Amino acid sequence: MRPIPEKSQVIVVTGAANGIGAAIARLAIDRGHRVMLTDVDEEAVLVCAGELGPRAAACRLDIRSAEGWSNAFEATEAAFGTVDVLVNNAGITHTGHARDLGPRQHRDIVEVNLLGTITGVCTAVERMTAQGHGHIVNVCSMTSFLPLPGYATYCGTKHGLRAFHHSVAIEERDGPLDFTIVHPPSTRTGMLDQEMADPACAISFAEKSYAPEQIAEAVVDAITTKPVEVVFPPLAGRVQRIAGVFPRLMRRVIPLAEARGRRQRAGLLSAPAATRPERF
Ligand SMILES: NC(=O)c1ccc[n+]([C@@H]2O[C@H](COP(=O)([O-])OP(=O)(O)OC[C@H]3O[C@@H](n4cnc5c(N)ncnc54)[C@H](O)[C@@H]3O)[C@@H](O)[C@H]2O)c1
Repeated sequence: MRPIPEKSQVIVVTGAANGIGAAIARLAIDRGHRVMLTDVDEEAVLVCAGELGPRAAACRLDIRSAEGWSNAFEATEAAFGTVDVLVNNAGITHTGHARDLGPRQHRDIVEVNLLGTITGVCTAVERMTAQGHGHIVNVCSMTSFLPLPGYATYCGTKHGLRAFHHSVAIEERDGPLDFTIVHPPSTRTGMLDQEMADPACAISFAEKSYAPEQIAEAVVDAITTKPVEVVFPPLAGRVQRIAGVFPRLMRRVIPLAEARGRRQRAGLLSAPAATRPERF
């Protein structure tokens, strides 16, 4: 394990038992930070932290619970001292066209991705302002710029999270806090496996997908450089961010991308098992 660098930070990561969150925690610890891994899946997050050595600790946090947020901050302070950085990463989706999802599924997505993250940001703003410093990093999505079939409510929560994030950052401009938002594209985690299982989400396979470690690098770099907003990959991400502003253009382009995604999804599914990647 590397020695603790001068700028070692105390970081809370949500949704850290799997996927992008687990990769963020691993890389942050490798770079000398101390990380409280949190997740609604307590058993999995304890196992994950147990593999990362003494600079990792873990506790259960369902981001929908305001009390859970206070407990997680207190557990982190007890383990490592004041929280320097909050990485709000936890998120879910239920796949399918909006008309095919039930009210409970729409509500779940909003309660976790939007309201849960809002609760975390508000908890962090209060506590970090009182301590005089802090950095809030929200892991959002490239879908916050694009209207995507198969993801209507998910896209809605990510558009909403981006608007909330930048609004709070402006409200707090005279305070001591830093705010960064990071937008991953398709990333090979359990979430993408879920999307592969549903043809309604074929658009996710229109472009190449990335490893969670690549997204983790962008997030952990951002802890040091504190950019306002990170799109990934940098060039295609910028193009998508601008194109998404034009709904008439999107009505033409997205169906073409969806058709390409259907072809690529079919190709991935029909590849011989020996050549098929473990994760799409
Ligand atoms: N995978 C992708 O293609 C992709 C693309 C863009 C953005 N993202 C975003 O990245 C983030 C991480 O996604 P991932 O792909 O690693 O997903 P994942 O499903 O692999 O992991 C998500 C983690 O969040 C946890 N979680 C779920 N509900 C929770 C809750 N209420 N409270 C606390 N933890 C909870 C899960 O237990 C899981 O460990 C999400 O915000 C997601 O929207 C993912």
